[in-house]
Amino acid sequence: MGFCPQCDSTEPLQEIVDTPTASITAPPVPLAAARAGNGRQRLETGINEFDRVLGGGLVSGSVVLLGGEPGVGKSTLTLQAMGSLASSGAGVLLAGSEESPQQVGLRAERLGLGTAEIDLLTSADVDQVVSVVAKNQPDVVVVDSIQTLSVPDIGGVTGGMSQIRECAARLVRVAKTTGTAVILVGHVTKDGGLAGPKALEHIVDVVLSLEGDPDRGLRALRSFKNRFGATHVVGMFDMQHTGLVEVLDPSKAFLAEWDMDVPGTIAFPAVEGARSVMVEIQALVTESPHTPPRRSVRGVEASRIHQILAVLTRHCSIDVSNKEVYVNVVGGWRLVEPGCDLPVALAIASSTLNRPLGSLAAWGEIGLAAEVRAVPLDLRRREEAKRVGIGTSIAAEQGSRLRLIDAMNRSGLTV
Ligand code: TYD
Ligand code: MG
Repeated sequence: MGFCPQCDSTEPLQEIVDTPTASITAPPVPLAAARAGNGRQRLETGINEFDRVLGGGLVSGSVVLLGGEPGVGKSTLTLQAMGSLASSGAGVLLAGSEESPQQVGLRAERLGLGTAEIDLLTSADVDQVVSVVAKNQPDVVVVDSIQTLSVPDIGGVTGGMSQIRECAARLVRVAKTTGTAVILVGHVTKDGGLAGPKALEHIVDVVLSLEGDPDRGLRALRSFKNRFGATHVVGMFDMQHTGLVEVLDPSKAFLAEWDMDVPGTIAFPAVEGARSVMVEIQALVTESPHTPPRRSVRGVEASRIHQILAVLTRHCSIDVSNKEVYVNVVGGWRLVEPGCDLPVALAIASSTLNRPLGSLAAWGEIGLAAEVRAVPLDLRRREEAKRVGIGTSIAAEQGSRLRLIDAMNRSGLTV
């Protein structure tokens, strides 16, 4: 192309010799002596939701990647964890050049951790961080952020793919040799492009993501990969003036502002890991001045919405072909289960017909023939609906048939 499509530089390309990330010199050992967990210690951060997502605390010598959009609260969460670790006597180091010591100091003040025994190392040079870790052997190092570190001896821009990868590889190496647990903070862009951090997923032990609705306080911490615990565990926090506070009953938090008498809203008992969380799904259908009409979706896959709209139009006399459709999962929650099809369809139908659904929860996957299929963990969802006091639940039961039009009839949306 004659220029770099990422940074527009017209400098000539430079060849980078990839250095092996670990030297393999150890002699063979019997499997029995090498069982996972042998010689490894769990270090509890003291923040229960964080520890739960980690599978019971930080494992010594492990590397955790914590991704999230700028401003979501990664620095806050890690500083709170460091404060609590330090107060229980662990040696903790905060390294990187994301923020100046003054900025970190201000945040610590705000979190009530002004006097916490945390060492700060403001450096953009990964080798300096590595040598401090090797020398001081702290229990935990937080690198905020991996994008602000660089290696002088290889090319590429700071924050670029090859730099991020090499920095992480050096930090992984020092974690394994010293037994220090390393948390790498990584920025993820708004459009979900994990670009840099994504390239690290295979070299780290644990991948966590902190997500949330920037307009609201609720934050979800999810595990996507965990060599020492279960994945898809979710921890919930509320961002308050004095930092992140654990949310013990997320269903109650989600439903606190639920106005069930407005058309287009319904509850959905989502299941994530070992936990059921009741979330509110909203839809708004209005006349459209645009051709084609606008479709805006937050928290559900857009492709599913298009399919649901097609099924509603073709099989249920809910014609939205020239209407704007907005679908939103309240609280910034992201739904990936097909079980959210039915509540989404009912919310859209409810808004189109301008009839509220009241105290209703629903779950089920919708097929192209407008059949509603059962989804796993029916009982758990039913119990969660009962626990939070929702009057009616509509779902396809295993082995029986439910048509979308019947589900609509049962929820009072007779066309
Ligand atoms: P931060 O941890 O800096 O986010 P990240 O490191 O992921 O970029 O969090 C920044 C936001 O959090 C900022 O908008 C201010 C807000 N915040 C609070 O609401 N309460 C607090 O106690 C703190 C420290 C930050
Ligand atoms: Mg930060």
